[in-house]
Amino acid sequence: MTQRANGPDSRDIRPQQGVDTKDIREIVARRGDERGGLIAVLQDIQARYGYLPQEGLKEVAEGTGRSLVDVYGVATFYRSFSLTPRGKHLICVCLGTACHVRGAPRILEQFQRELGVGVGGTTPDGEFTLETVNCLGACALGPVVVVDGKYFSNVAMPGVKGILREARSGSTRLKEPAAQASAR
Ligand code: FES
Repeated sequence: MTQRANGPDSRDIRPQQGVDTKDIREIVARRGDERGGLIAVLQDIQARYGYLPQEGLKEVAEGTGRSLVDVYGVATFYRSFSLTPRGKHLICVCLGTACHVRGAPRILEQFQRELGVGVGGTTPDGEFTLETVNCLGACALGPVVVVDGKYFSNVAMPGVKGILREARSGSTRLKEPAAQASAR
């Protein structure tokens, strides 16, 4: 499943702002020499900006001495990285078979109505991005929704508003998010 990168909390994420190349150079200098350095660099940039901006990736290529193709290769291989701006809160509705038969499509529609965006969309205020996933391995608990890394099980239509409220309050964000990226 999609996992969040280590980094600042939601108040620090600047999803739609321009890229500060000095920031990127600092991240490369700090994390670039670590084992798995490129992934660590990309995780930090994503945590900072909410996605991997194109200008940032160019800076990473220059700073690490890798080709831009290499950097893009890693950035597009891992599902946890995004090349387009995401909202502060990532909502993932499971549409795997077990969740599907338990009503996941209706839950997804309810999120779409509440947020006014389709799958893959981000609300204009930059608060929420809505995505779907195929099976999170918790089929008996379906329908399952994951928000900022927190699982919600047996989700029913009336519960959607409450989940969004909880996300807005920041309480869905894990205190110690997983550091490892997951392959697509
Ligand atoms: S189908 Fe949703 S968790 Fe498996």
